[in-house]
Amino acid sequence: MGFGRGKVILLGEHAVVYGVPAIAVGIERGVTARAFPAKNDLLRLSPWGLVLAPNPSDEKPLARAFAAALALYAERPRLEVAADVELPAGAGLGCSAAIGVALIDAIDQFLGIERSRTELGAAALAWEKVFHGNPSGIDNTMSAVGGVALYRKGHDLQPLRSNKPLHLVIGYSGVSSSTKEMVASVARQLERDPTRVKKAFQGIEVLVRNAKLAIEAGDLVALGQLLDLNHSILTSLMLCTSRLDEMCQAARRAGALGAKMTGSGGGGCMFALAPKRDEALRLRAVLGEDSFVAEVST
Ligand code: PMV
Repeated sequence: MGFGRGKVILLGEHAVVYGVPAIAVGIERGVTARAFPAKNDLLRLSPWGLVLAPNPSDEKPLARAFAAALALYAERPRLEVAADVELPAGAGLGCSAAIGVALIDAIDQFLGIERSRTELGAAALAWEKVFHGNPSGIDNTMSAVGGVALYRKGHDLQPLRSNKPLHLVIGYSGVSSSTKEMVASVARQLERDPTRVKKAFQGIEVLVRNAKLAIEAGDLVALGQLLDLNHSILTSLMLCTSRLDEMCQAARRAGALGAKMTGSGGGGCMFALAPKRDEALRLRAVLGEDSFVAEVST
């Protein structure tokens, strides 16, 4: 069975596209996939009931991405891939990357190709590029490798160790958004007002570096404060919605150490850092029935 996990960016999204490091975690929710020989190449995605043939010039990105993934294999029989998606799409949890990783993992297993999880993540970049032109690579890498890690474009992933697990409560705003559009919006802001946006990126970089130290020291209170600050900078870049902001405020009022939108924004998800497991369950009740708890150990 092929598997690609979802991811939560703790700090550094958007700035990571421009070379700033980001910290992300892999979560247990993700995508599983199985590949088997078939009459024609086909991708089935449940629970969405989608059936797609690979086509590099199709208007549907999934059909183009499937073609890009199959192009990784010089010789193979015709294959059907059946994938089961457990993540909301367009929600900042790296759903598209997780599908790509699970699919390539499933095909590799069927063909007996051995790739490390790092190599698998790198292979899935071809898939991810279809969804937005300029991916940092964080989604496909974290989807394959997991754990808690510092990611910097063009550098090896740096796993982070901590003596404390992270209890995250992930809440969905109910609105999906397009990573491509949100990344393009930041690019436009950078072009129009480079001083302001570069300052925002520098601010994010300082927060990421401090968050790395806080995670390594097991200082969850400091980490929570850094999450709040990163959320404010993303809000200043017009990436946050009022619903996401309300959810973050509600989580903080209910005892979260920090709360932040995650991923490309414009909708999608936020997460709250809970002090302990039982508090995470309480926060889950505040964030609604679509929310879920992810416990991440290093
Ligand atoms: O919303 P998502 O899960 O696609 O997150 C993308 C993260 C960005 O930093 C906004 C883009 C990227 O390529 O890193």
